[in-house]
Amino acid sequence: MNGNEFIYKTDTNSTILEDGSFTWRAPSNIALVKYWGKREVQLPENPSLSFTLSNCFTETTLEFKRAKEAPTVSEPDGSTDFEQTLVQKVFKFDVFLDGKRKPEFEKKIGDFIVRVGKLVSFISDYDFIIKTHNSFPHSSGIASSASGMAALSLCIMSMEKALNPSMSEELFYQKASLLARLGSGSAARSVKGELVVWGEHSNIQGSSDLFGVEFPHKVHENFKNYQDTILLVDKGEKVVSSTVGHNLMHGHPFAQQRFKQANENISKLSEILQNGDLKAFVNLVESEALTLHAMMMTSNPYFILMKPNTLQIIDKIWKFRATSGSNVCFTLDAGANVHVLFPSNEKKLVNDFIERELVDFCQKNEYISDSVGSGAKQM
Ligand code: DP6
Repeated sequence: MNGNEFIYKTDTNSTILEDGSFTWRAPSNIALVKYWGKREVQLPENPSLSFTLSNCFTETTLEFKRAKEAPTVSEPDGSTDFEQTLVQKVFKFDVFLDGKRKPEFEKKIGDFIVRVGKLVSFISDYDFIIKTHNSFPHSSGIASSASGMAALSLCIMSMEKALNPSMSEELFYQKASLLARLGSGSAARSVKGELVVWGEHSNIQGSSDLFGVEFPHKVHENFKNYQDTILLVDKGEKVVSSTVGHNLMHGHPFAQQRFKQANENISKLSEILQNGDLKAFVNLVESEALTLHAMMMTSNPYFILMKPNTLQIIDKIWKFRATSGSNVCFTLDAGANVHVLFPSNEKKLVNDFIERELVDFCQKNEYISDSVGSGAKQM
């Protein structure tokens, strides 16, 4: 599979679409085995595996209308790579977040549309209004790029499906994930399924660097409805963006070892998810989180995204686990917030602990209670 099969073509059953709208709700996700390091174009250096969330999501409506003016299309650089910037057009689209025009989002979405242009060339025939809403507060330090890019990609795919109704469901979701990936790597994991693997791995049948796939094995009861309470330690802008961080893995002294470890951890986690070994889960997930931050600290330039309260929380979790016998653990993404993970049968025990010992380390005592969800939904 080289990706060319994803290029839009009209088929014999193609229909005409004048105007309309599609709405999708796509979830955020939290990686257990982390994606950190990528190569062109938005391809991961190692496979990653995430839990899909339920309460943290983006809902996006894409309104479209056939454009009156003919688009300006050019194929500028003679590139043959299907994912390169091939379609250039003065797109007309306005972006609204919670009803307010957001010109600052338009640059990011414009870049995305140019990047996916060749794959969904029909979009150059339309003008768009994009209306979007996040379930979590904008300034919570929770990245909306995964859920946002996934929701928008699914709306674009609904257009493609309306134009080519015979498209299979499998192709629909694979291509939605592929488009989302081109917007933000982790967005590839925000489309379908409770547990999603993105990146090729020999133990995960069907896995691909191009798009995310549902974890293909039966998951043990212990991991059903797993809980994730997100402690909002720092709601500010990140000092170093993920994209810059990923790029610092080029020439990083530990990069190759890290990519190898991530591959091994996918194999180990795959076993753990099937056999229900909670102790092994805790060990692997926390090690992944700390390794991610160790990569940041050993980059050049080096940087630290954790805050003192991040470490206070980790220390409290370790002490609580040692004395209570709980299987609570933490993971981190590229920021200071802490995701507290625990089985659903420990809800009362861990929620009491969070209220009693951890909320004081959160900005304005704020946190978000979430749990594993099943993937994006069309509204
Ligand atoms: C630490 O997907 O935000 O959360 O592809 O540049 O948009 P871009 O990066 P992004 O990176 C996420 C990194 C991470 C780990 C993970 O989610 O796997």
